Amino acid sequence: MEITLKVNEVQHTLDVEPRTLLVHLIRENLNLTGTHIGCDTTTCGACTILLDGKSVKSCTILAVQANGKSVRTIESVAGADGHLHPLQEGFKDNHGLHCGFCTPGMIMRSIELLENNPNPTEEEIRWGISGNLCRCTGYNNIVKAIEYASAKNRGVEPASTEP
Ligand code: FES
Repeated sequence: MEITLKVNEVQHTLDVEPRTLLVHLIRENLNLTGTHIGCDTTTCGACTILLDGKSVKSCTILAVQANGKSVRTIESVAGADGHLHPLQEGFKDNHGLHCGFCTPGMIMRSIELLENNPNPTEEEIRWGISGNLCRCTGYNNIVKAIEYASAKNRGVEPASTEP
């Protein structure tokens, strides 16, 4: 089937098999390998992207379901000049990642979380990222990273663990 979709503001027309998963189209057809595959069964959240602005697990969506829609992946998050997004800065400065495998999905999920709730409580953050698994940080520093980005987005001096 021929589908047309916008990925990171670039329009693509692609011929895909009806069974192709969106995550495979993103990684294999478009070479955007920042979107990870951890489980392929909707469990881990490593494949989280934004579809028309909503965070979704791209291993659970067929590429044909994205026809006519807009996809945003982790590759679009930093500025064109390499300037880090507040969430990327937060994860870096607060040690919100160890192996980094979950990080792209965590950040894409957190973008929507902060858009919907610019000043979330710790509990709201933990609930908000409950569909994204991390096996190394214990989540505390991920929560701090999201709190950092929330503060920075609101023009408040973020607390950072960096000296
Ligand atoms: Fe999609 Fe784990 S790879 S949820």
